[in-house]
Amino acid sequence: MVLLLVACWWAVAGKVLAQDTFDPLAYVDPLIGASNGGNVFPGASLPYGMAKAVADTNSGSRQGGFTMDGAAVTGFSMMHDSGTGGSPSLGNFALFAYTNCPGGDVNQCVFPKKTRAAFGRFSNSSVSAKPGTFGITLESGIRAEMTTTHHTSLFSFTFPSLGADEEPAQPLILQDLTDLADSRQDNATVTVDPTTGRITGSARFLPSFGTGSFVLHFCTDFSGADIVDSGIFVNSRASTEVHDLTISRSINGYPLPGGAFVRFNSAAEPILVRTATSFISAERACEHAENEIPDFDFTAVSEAATEAWRAKMSPIRVSTNQVNGSMLTNFYSGIYRTMINPQNYTGENPLWSSDEPYFDSFYCIWDQFRSQLPLLTITDPGAVTDMVRSLIDTYRHSGWLPDCRMSLNKGYTQGGSNADVVLADAYVKGLQGGINWDDGYAAVVKDAEVEPYDWCCEGRGGLDSWKSLGYIPVEDFDYKGFGTMTRSISRTLEYAYNDFCIAQMAASLGKTSDKDKFIASSGNWRNLFKADQISAWWNGSSTGFTGFFQPRYLNQTWGFQDPLNCSNLDATSVCSLQNTGRETFESSIWEYGFFVPHDQASLITLYGGPSAFTSRLDYLHDRSITYIGNEPSFLTVFQYHYAGRPALSALRSHFYIPSFFSPTPSGLPGNDDSGAMGSFVAFAMMGLFPNPGQPVYLITPPFFQEVNVTHPLTNKTARVKNVNFDPAYEAVYIQSATLDGEVYTKNWVDHSFFTEGKELVLTLGRNESAWGTRVEDLPPSLGEYQGFGGNGSVKRATAEGLWRRAGYKGRFGVVGDKVGM
Ligand SMILES: *[C@@H]1O[C@H](CO)[C@@H](O)[C@H](O)[C@H]1NC(C)=O
Ligand SMILES: *[C@@H]1O[C@H](CO)[C@@H](O)[C@H](O)[C@H]1NC(C)=O
Ligand SMILES: *[C@@H]1O[C@H](CO)[C@@H](O)[C@H](O)[C@H]1NC(C)=O
Ligand SMILES: *[C@@H]1O[C@H](CO)[C@@H](O)[C@H](O)[C@H]1NC(C)=O
Ligand SMILES: *[C@@H]1O[C@H](CO)[C@@H](O)[C@H](O)[C@H]1NC(C)=O
Ligand SMILES: *[C@@H]1O[C@H](CO)[C@@H](O)[C@H](O)[C@H]1NC(C)=O
Ligand SMILES: *[C@@H]1O[C@H](CO)[C@@H](O)[C@H](O)[C@H]1NC(C)=O
Ligand SMILES: *[C@@H]1O[C@H](CO)[C@@H](O)[C@H](O)[C@H]1NC(C)=O
Ligand SMILES: *[C@@H]1O[C@H](CO)[C@@H](O)[C@H](O)[C@H]1NC(C)=O
Ligand SMILES: *[C@@H]1O[C@H](CO)[C@@H](O)[C@H](O)[C@H]1NC(C)=O
Ligand SMILES: *[C@@H]1O[C@H](CO)[C@@H](O)[C@H](O)[C@H]1NC(C)=O
Repeated sequence: MVLLLVACWWAVAGKVLAQDTFDPLAYVDPLIGASNGGNVFPGASLPYGMAKAVADTNSGSRQGGFTMDGAAVTGFSMMHDSGTGGSPSLGNFALFAYTNCPGGDVNQCVFPKKTRAAFGRFSNSSVSAKPGTFGITLESGIRAEMTTTHHTSLFSFTFPSLGADEEPAQPLILQDLTDLADSRQDNATVTVDPTTGRITGSARFLPSFGTGSFVLHFCTDFSGADIVDSGIFVNSRASTEVHDLTISRSINGYPLPGGAFVRFNSAAEPILVRTATSFISAERACEHAENEIPDFDFTAVSEAATEAWRAKMSPIRVSTNQVNGSMLTNFYSGIYRTMINPQNYTGENPLWSSDEPYFDSFYCIWDQFRSQLPLLTITDPGAVTDMVRSLIDTYRHSGWLPDCRMSLNKGYTQGGSNADVVLADAYVKGLQGGINWDDGYAAVVKDAEVEPYDWCCEGRGGLDSWKSLGYIPVEDFDYKGFGTMTRSISRTLEYAYNDFCIAQMAASLGKTSDKDKFIASSGNWRNLFKADQISAWWNGSSTGFTGFFQPRYLNQTWGFQDPLNCSNLDATSVCSLQNTGRETFESSIWEYGFFVPHDQASLITLYGGPSAFTSRLDYLHDRSITYIGNEPSFLTVFQYHYAGRPALSALRSHFYIPSFFSPTPSGLPGNDDSGAMGSFVAFAMMGLFPNPGQPVYLITPPFFQEVNVTHPLTNKTARVKNVNFDPAYEAVYIQSATLDGEVYTKNWVDHSFFTEGKELVLTLGRNESAWGTRVEDLPPSLGEYQGFGGNGSVKRATAEGLWRRAGYKGRFGVVGDKVGM
């Protein structure tokens, strides 16, 4: 809002009328998702930065550090994840500040995190958050501002001139060997240098959704006032006589409070605190700090951070004409949130030595593969290239592609080996830039062919059954590898799609027999389809639909799971990674029933043709069986395209946006999941939704009069323009379209739209039209489209023929690789 006014002022002042005054950052609100379970990290960071500074609260929803739900601040820490569920991540080595200690006695200051929260209350209106900076004023009168470079956070604490009991200010700043989840292990250390005030230390912590542990180090320096004294604290007591501490976790159920502090002689000027972290050593942390922020220049650091964000966001330009500003904020804030995680830990990986990039916080790929990483492939293909290189390097050194990874550790696998989709998506979209695709291919084939001993955290389980039976049986017999024996339906569906993705890579790499094999196993989803299965409501009345996926035993007889179990309406079933979980992960059979992204044509036929398929999709959404706050719902919003009803996808996206996504702290429908929700909003509003793993974008009218996306590698601008744009969103039906001036009737475009900077002009109207409805207009599918108005079906296709026929000119050698990265 403030920046909006600034934009007006430019115009009024008339100073820079010729200059481009559009600033995407004016429409970014990092606080979206800071309450009501959005769990976003709303603080200061660079794009993919390791340093992420924010105020941490003691909310039950503090996964991203800060919350606006009335919980108090307990500290200011410099590492975070964003949007995750499960335990809170990171939040290590929190700082806290007092204007003075009563009576000048350090023992009168409150050190432990739990009790100092009493000094961390704040009013929401004191919070300011912008890309690259975050600020908050505590009721104590202390104002904290923060900004970051890649590994280093810079905090500025401004103190009132008088402390408790009107005593002169003698500020004390402490640093705590803590983390958000209280996961610190034994023998953390801290040292404070009495002369310089430098605090260094390290501790071992646990990852928030994975196995193992990690050691993190830090280095903190101060500027702005003279040091009075310094020392360490343990539990509630402190001393200026002691400057080194090694501390036990203790047996009391949570880590014993401990840390160091420095006291200053004056509050006349803000006190600047510079903290860097490193997974390598405290010395490395100090080097980061000294190299990245040599002179404690808060303004320079925050301006550089803002500029880094502006550069990342500027390739995406939408017309602000006629549209409500809240739509713009929704859109740009969504894009912003896709660049918080994954995090670039290149040079900070102690696990193996390599010249490849190292990215962390793939948290989790089950969330990220659907639209977040595909969005970055358009807006920041260089970053996705680095991420893919990092995934392949992780395979090289740990043996496997990750499914979820955080804080240098393996996270838990939720469904299939969906890094296969990420690699295939990058591959079919032409990313190169130093990616070793031979190793990338070996990595995805290993997922399909080799069962890990412990498939909790990598690869797939049940491969013997998968190969002999063509599905993952419920109550499988598996003596080779071990993992939670649930999710047999959702794993079968995801493994099938993973195999299709591998087949596309095989086809292009000329590995014909692999291609045939994986195309065949990509059809395994059919083996769990029970044609006579009905679905009834709990009062016994039928939903009216027949034919659902069902669990199946080793002996090939059917088990049973209510198709509505684990739906949005099911408040009782256990549907996550518990041993008692159901056969679908965090989603119902109803919703997973649409997850055949590569063969919608065959699925449509199984469901009784396009009109029955459309009714079933409508029922899924209209009866709230699906919930847009979790990722499996994303593609279902747009799957009407495959049934020849692209108009219904457009309607459905307006059904969810903005009703379920409003640009307020409580405005997200669920955990942002690393930016997954943000990417859904961005793609839906852009009007080109991806089917991930395929070079396919489903066309709906953008929520803006026009959208320009400049490809950062080719510099070419792709443009979608609405003719008859209606800001009331009643005219959301495409009547006709042109692509680069030629009549265009397909309801999808391929990735060359972005790399080659094509122009799509959509003419909108108030009624559904015949545009994009014919079989030849539909997106690619492995099987034949049948039952579409009597004009027969398209020819059954192999993977490469499929894309060639569909006019895709990227990876399969028709035109060759044009992207160069
Ligand atoms: C603001 O603060 C109050 C009380 O501290 C809290 O209950 C409320 O939900 C907060 N959040 C927002 C977004 O207003
Ligand atoms: C912690 O330090 C103590 C004392 O040196 C030692 O006995 C113990 O093994 C250490 N614990 C760990 C986990 O390193
Ligand atoms: C999009 O690009 C076109 C062609 O360069 C330009 O005329 C138009 O003003 C741009 N629109 C926006 C919103 O930037
Ligand atoms: C813009 O959208 C917001 C949120 O939906 C709404 O409250 C506001 O009234 C709208 N403003 C206008 C001018 O339509
Ligand atoms: C990641 O960090 C490395 C080392 O600082 C840098 O060279 C690289 O450009 C970064 N990658 C991205 C995508 O930011
Ligand atoms: C049974 O429950 C469903 C879902 O709530 C409802 O639509 C239907 O009307 C109910 N049927 C009867 C007979 O009550
Ligand atoms: C198949 O296996 C299931 C589960 O063990 C069992 O309940 C069922 O009786 C078996 N059916 C046949 C025909 O063997
Ligand atoms: C889940 O499925 C079981 C087995 O059919 C059924 O007993 C239960 O009522 C279902 N629960 C819900 C909430 O759907
Ligand atoms: C794209 O533009 C940048 C900055 O103007 C330039 O450095 C780069 O060479 C251009 N790339 C191509 C492929 O034209
Ligand atoms: C649009 O449809 C409505 C009813 O569905 C009809 O009354 C109207 O004439 C149609 N408009 C056009 C331009 O076809
Ligand atoms: C069938 O195809 C022919 C030739 O392309 C076309 O003229 C006719 O309109 C089509 N019929 C239907 C029902 O789509």
